[in-house]
This record gives sequence, C-alpha cells and structure tokens, in this order.
Amino acid sequence: MLFKWDRKPKIITMLRQVATRAFSPVGNRYFFKRAVSTLQIGTEKSETIYTRDDYPLKRCQDIIGVKTISILGYGPQGRGQALNLRDNGFNVILGLRKGGKSWERAVDDGWGLEQIQDIQTATRNGDIIKYLLSDAGQISEWEQVKPHLDQNKTIYFSHGLAVTYPELTGVVPPENTDVIMVAPKGAGMTVRDKFLQGSGINSSYAVFQDHSGRAEETARALAFAIGSGHVFQTTFQNEVYSDLTGERCVLMGLIQAAFKAQYEVLRERGHSVSEAYNETVEEALVSLYPLINDRGMDWLYTNCSTTAQRGALDWAPKFEKVIKPVINRCYDSVKNGDEVKRVISSNSHPDCNEKLNYELHQISKHELWQAAKQLRKFRPL
Ligand SMILES: NC(=O)c1ccc[n+]([C@@H]2O[C@H](COP(=O)([O-])OP(=O)(O)OC[C@H]3O[C@@H](n4cnc5c(N)ncnc54)[C@H](OP(=O)(O)O)[C@@H]3O)[C@@H](O)[C@H]2O)c1
Repeated sequence: MLFKWDRKPKIITMLRQVATRAFSPVGNRYFFKRAVSTLQIGTEKSETIYTRDDYPLKRCQDIIGVKTISILGYGPQGRGQALNLRDNGFNVILGLRKGGKSWERAVDDGWGLEQIQDIQTATRNGDIIKYLLSDAGQISEWEQVKPHLDQNKTIYFSHGLAVTYPELTGVVPPENTDVIMVAPKGAGMTVRDKFLQGSGINSSYAVFQDHSGRAEETARALAFAIGSGHVFQTTFQNEVYSDLTGERCVLMGLIQAAFKAQYEVLRERGHSVSEAYNETVEEALVSLYPLINDRGMDWLYTNCSTTAQRGALDWAPKFEKVIKPVINRCYDSVKNGDEVKRVISSNSHPDCNEKLNYELHQISKHELWQAAKQLRKFRPL
C-alpha cells in the first residue's frame, strides 16, 4: 500500500462551540440555534468562522427581504452570483451594456428583458448594488454609477481593489451608503458549479463603511445567499493584498512557472512528452494535489515513500530560499500600488486586448499545454 494512516495530532483545530441562541433580525419573530465555529491556531487570536448552520437560506431571505439586488456585470462572478441568487429566490436585476457579450449571455441564461437594464438604470432601481464589472470597468464606469447610490443603498464588491486604491481608481463611495465586500475564494465559474453540486466555495467578507448599522449582517447574508461554504472576516485592504499576491504567486504565476521550468528541464534532458507531462502536471493534479486538499501536506509527506520524503525534505528549503524573497517583492509591489498601476495602464492602451491575447497565446501554444490538451483525452472517464 502506497499510503499509511497518519496519527499525528492536527495543528489546526476547528472547534464547534456550544450552540448559542440568536434571533432573526427582522422583527424578532423566531429563535433558532446558531453554532458558532472558531479557528484557533496556537496563540493567535481566534477567528470566527460562519457556516450555513449560522445563516440558513431562510435567515438570509429574512435579512435581505424583498430588496432588489442589482448585479452590474455578467462576467464569471456576476453570472455565478446572479444565477445562484435567482435560484435561491432573491429579487435580482442585471445592469449591463447593450451590445456586449454579457447581454447576449444573460438572454441565453433566461433573464427576461425587464430584468436586463443598462448600468445606470439598474443602479437606480437597486437597493443592493453588486459592482461586478471588470476591475478596469469599475474605474471607467464609476462616474455613471456614483450619482445613483442614494442613501440607504448598499454597494457591494467582490474584490477590495477599487476601494483600497482610491487615488488610482477614483472609486470613493458616498458616505451615506453601506460599503461591503464578499470575495469568493475561487473562480466565478466555480461559484456556480459548486452551487449546482450542492457544495459551495468559501468567501471572505468585509465592511468598509457601515452607514445603516446592519452592514456586517447584510454582508454575511449575501455571502451565504450566493452559496458560500463558510465565510471569514477580512478588510478590503487585506483582501486585495493577499488576493493580488496569491494570483501572482502560488495560485497562478508561480505555479505556471514551476510547471514550465520542470517540464522544460525534463524535455531538454531527453524525456518523452508523455513522461515530462505526467511527472510534472498529471501526477500533481490528479493524485497528489487532491490528497493535499483532502488530508494535508503533512499527511502527504508522512505517507509517501522514504525516497520521496528524503528528496522533498532536502529540496524544499532550497526552493523556499529562492522563492520567499520573490514573494516578498511581489507583496511590496502590491502594497505600494505598483501592481495596480500596471494593471490600469496595461488595460488602458487602445491595443490592450491584442497585446494580452498575444501573451496568453504564448502559454497555450507551449508544448506543455499542447501536450496537456491531448493527454487529458486519454484519462478514463
Ligand atoms: N473572475 C473571478 O474568478 C473572480 C473571483 C473573485 C473575485 N472577482 C472579482 O469580481 C469582479 C468581477 O470579475 P469578473 O471576473 O466576473 O469580471 P470580468 O470578466 O473581469 O468583467 C466582465 C464584466 O464586466 C463588464 N464590463 C467591463 N468593462 C465594462 C465597461 N466599461 N462598461 C460596462 N461593462 C463593462 C463586461 O461586460 P461585456 O460583456 O459587455 O464586455 C462583463 O459583464 C472583479 O472585481 C473581480 O476582481 C473575480
């Protein structure tokens, strides 16, 4: 047997605490049990983790009530969140530009023409405005949206970027609105797919401005209304710093570079395409990463061959020594605004899409990802 069970005590302990009583914020009409979970790591201050037990759909519906949720933008996030909210029975309208791809997609998804409005009308008609245009679109359209954010409205983001760098984006919400964020920790497509499978992805939430005194409760209710699995609190600033660092490093940039580098070394040393691909990508994604996900990296180290153990233990610190300073440089570049400046300037050239497509094409035409396309077809169903 390749793996044996690890009985080492776990460092992370999720404590489901004694059920506490809470009540519906709408009229104190009923009582229900609320099980608050905490995450406790060593001497760190404990974090509260909210689960669906804390916010069942009925509670979310009571908090949001008949308010109209306007979703501006129908990209991966806008679409995923809009469809999940619609399926959960909320009152949703869309704010889109006529003639864009999103308008067509929304019609295909069965949104009625009375539910698809232009951005200004949807902002005017909504109580909760989900600002889910692309991050560049949020900057360019802000002057159209801002005048319609009356008192008592809530503006909702799924990323802290626009609000965290106001000097670069110009996005400064009016003082008489609630400003909240729910940031799903995954791709917009996954928000929809996991919802349809009955599970959900985790989200962070934050309150930037609490005009009504109910912003936090609204944020948590909306997080579960879109189908989140569990939610944890952050700030707009921490979300954007960690998110931009994550996607530049371990989630995308670093992992793509690591796959490519190892694949090229194996190919340059005479290994076949199949071997280089399987040893680099297939084994990682199909076997080892799902095990890390299910049981942890510590479990994987304990339960692999002693040959793999020795090698990984010896080489991990060498990689860490090289990589950690780069991640720190990346974090600094996020924090000082350089990354956001670069995103804004590269998105504002007239030929930006052409240039971007050229760069993206370099990845898809690389032998590794061409091999991936062909070899994925040989996976048993
Ligand atoms: N993608 C993710 O997985 C993910 C995950 C977590 C958080 N987020 C955050 O969620 C928000 C939305 O991201 P996304 O990836 O779903 O969107 P996106 O693909 O970046 O943006 C697409 C939407 O923005 C609209 N749009 C762009 N520029 C516009 C303009 N000038 N005027 C009107 N509409 C415009 C597009 O309309 P057309 O179709 O008409 O062009 C489309 O509906 C962002 O803040 C993002 O950071 C995204």
